[in-house]
Amino acid sequence: MQLKGRHLLNSTDFSVEELYSIIELAQKIAKKPEDYSEKCKGRIMAALFYEPSTRTRLSFEAAMKRLGGDVIGFPEMSTSSESKGESIADTVRIVACYSDIIVMRHHVPFVPHKISEHIRVPFINAGDGSNQHPTQTLADIFTIYKYKKKLSNLKIGFCGDLKYGRTVHSLIKTMDRYENNIFECISPDCLKIPDDLRREIKSPLRERECLEDVLGELDILYMTRIQKERFEDLDEYERIKGYYILTKEKMENAKEDAMILHPLPRVDEIHESVDDDPRAYYFKQARAGMYMRMSLILHLLGLN
Ligand code: NCD
Repeated sequence: MQLKGRHLLNSTDFSVEELYSIIELAQKIAKKPEDYSEKCKGRIMAALFYEPSTRTRLSFEAAMKRLGGDVIGFPEMSTSSESKGESIADTVRIVACYSDIIVMRHHVPFVPHKISEHIRVPFINAGDGSNQHPTQTLADIFTIYKYKKKLSNLKIGFCGDLKYGRTVHSLIKTMDRYENNIFECISPDCLKIPDDLRREIKSPLRERECLEDVLGELDILYMTRIQKERFEDLDEYERIKGYYILTKEKMENAKEDAMILHPLPRVDEIHESVDDDPRAYYFKQARAGMYMRMSLILHLLGLN
C-alpha cells in the first residue's frame, strides 16, 4: 500500500487549499508556540542528509524539537552505512522502522521520489539536486503571505542561478498557481531557467539579463546564489560569479514596499549593507521556514 499524498516531494503536491491550511496553522504556531510544544511527544523524525545542509537540517531539527519530538539521522553521507556499501533504499527502509517521519536531501535529482515509493511513513524531500526544494517554498510563501497578505497580483523577479537553483524551480511553479502573477527571470544566458520548466509556466514570464532594468517594478525580488557545486566546468563558474550584486545604492530604485527574499546561504549577491533595509526579509524568511516546517510535520502526521 502506498500512502500517496502523505509525502511532500514536489512543491505542487499539496492543493492550494491545503497550502492555506498549512500557512494558517504556521501562523497560529508562531503566535503561541507553547500550545504546540508537546504535540509530537514520543514521535521521532529521521533527518537523512546525503548533501550538506545547515539551514534546512537545523530548521527541521528545531521544528521537531519545538513540537516536543525527537530527531535521529546523519548530517552527511560519510556517517551513513552508504560508506559500507548499503543501498540508499535499504538504509531508508531501515530508518522507516525506527521513525515516524523522514526528511531526506540528496544531490541527485529524483532520488527522494524513487526512495519514497517504498516508504510508509510520511517522507519529505528537503532538496534533490537542482530539481526541487519544496519546503523552502513553504518558507517563501509563508513570508510573502505574512507580509504582503496575498499570494496573487505580484510581480516577482527571480535573479541569479535559475538553471540549477532548485528553490526557484519550486517557488515559480507554486506562485504560478495564483492569479495575475508576473515573473521576471533575470539571469546570464548560461543560467536561464530550464526550457521544460519555462514551458510549464502559465503566467506571463519574461527573461532578461539586467537586474537594474526591472528592479523598480518588482514587488518581490528573489535573489539566489550561483550554485558552484553544480557546475561541471569550474572555469565557467569563475567567469559568472559576482554577476549580480544587490547593493544599498541599487535599492534606491526599488519600490518602497518591495520585498527582498533569499533562501540563503548568500555568497556576495546581496551586499551586507542591504541587511538593515526594512525591505530585506531574508532573515525573517528563515524564521518563517521553521514555523512552516512545524506546521508541515503536524499536517503530515495528522496532528493538525
Ligand atoms: C538552498 C538550497 O539548499 O537549495 N538553501 C536552503 O536550503 N536554504 C539555496 C542554496 O543553497 O543556494
